[in-house]
Amino acid sequence: MSELPIFPLTSEHKMIRDAARDFAQNEIAPIAAQFDESGEFPSKTIKKMGEMGFMGIEVPEKYGGAEMDTLAYVLALEEICKADAAHGVIMSVNNSLYCHGILKFGTEEQKERFVAPVASGEAIGAYSLTEPMSGSDAGTMKTRAVLDGDAYVINGRKSWVTSGPVAEYVVLFAVTDPEKGSKGVSAFLIDANQPGLIRGKKEPKLGIRASATSELIFEDYRCPVENRLGAEGEGFKIAMTVLDAGRIGIATQALGIAEAAYEAARQYATEREAFGQKIGQFQGTGFKIADMKTRIEAARLLTYNAALAKEKTKASGGRYSLEASMAKLFSSETAMYVTHQAVQIHGGMGYSKELPVERYFRDAKITEIYEGTSEIQRLVISRLEMGLK
Ligand code: CAA
Repeated sequence: MSELPIFPLTSEHKMIRDAARDFAQNEIAPIAAQFDESGEFPSKTIKKMGEMGFMGIEVPEKYGGAEMDTLAYVLALEEICKADAAHGVIMSVNNSLYCHGILKFGTEEQKERFVAPVASGEAIGAYSLTEPMSGSDAGTMKTRAVLDGDAYVINGRKSWVTSGPVAEYVVLFAVTDPEKGSKGVSAFLIDANQPGLIRGKKEPKLGIRASATSELIFEDYRCPVENRLGAEGEGFKIAMTVLDAGRIGIATQALGIAEAAYEAARQYATEREAFGQKIGQFQGTGFKIADMKTRIEAARLLTYNAALAKEKTKASGGRYSLEASMAKLFSSETAMYVTHQAVQIHGGMGYSKELPVERYFRDAKITEIYEGTSEIQRLVISRLEMGLK
């Protein structure tokens, strides 16, 4: 259900949502379990998603994108995530952590070179902030970029990079001035096929197993000065600004997972019988269904609202950190709650790999962790609300 009276959808919104739904149900849902099991990267379906315009939904047509608004992006992503959250995170990182950052902070040349191939789905983009000893406290990163003539020489180890094993291009954050803390961080556009970038081991994960995650190791990688994104020292702000967009993507991913789990549970509750009646007729199950549905619709309101808040800033400027963090926090915790209840309603079948419910449960957990844990979202929201640090 994506029709809410306070979010009237245009015919363009309905068109992209329906196209994404058809594609997700016909081409992704049937292969999701197999790719989850093997952990193989779903290159073919991702390529097709690029051809359909899903890998750069907000990117202007002149840079290879579909030139639609943030709500269109959220509606399409929600449908993809209902079928498979692994496809969803590849799409989300490509759109909001990679393309969005370059569109917002890049030069014309950078947009032409680095956005166009990724928005059209010919290449995959990644975003690399985290390090083994710098996760939530992102300002403490150690990877160094030292200016040497016409290039920065980069050395260090980045971790937990979504699409790290397959990305052709990476938005990277590294320290240019270690004396200045987070104000000494700069952003760089990395061509992953140049010497000095080694892809580390692929992480074995609990969920979203078909999305590839790895370390990226930089050993005397030379990044030309013209590939620095923004000014020296602006990197941390760029990272944070871009994460606001990313968090709307993860809120949407969580919403899609929750909806898929809810639909399965609702269906099961109306079919399965125990003690002479449908299990949904027991109040214990019926009330679970009521709570799941209510929380999902609240998560949807927050997520669509964050999309509209982001859209508004395109004309007026400003931030939408509060809306994005509230949507991510509530939606990811809703996904955890709903998938947990969906497994419980299914009983033994919820624990079986014969149904996708256990996958939804495993996939939901990451939404409370990446792109800022629930604790970090609470920190962001409370700081913004009280103006205290
Ligand atoms: N937009 C613009 N500017 C922002 C901002 C935002 N959302 N958030 C902070 N800033 C600015 C601040 O205004 C401040 O600038 P001034 O000093 O000029 O005012 C500067 O950035 C530093 O901000 P803080 O002092 O608030 O920084 P902090 O060190 O206290 O950290 C934090 C803030 C919110 C905890 C931040 O470190 C954070 O978000 N941590 C979580 C990191 C994260 O989400 N990592 C996920 C990585 S991506 C991933 O998961 C993998 C993947 O591939 C999907």
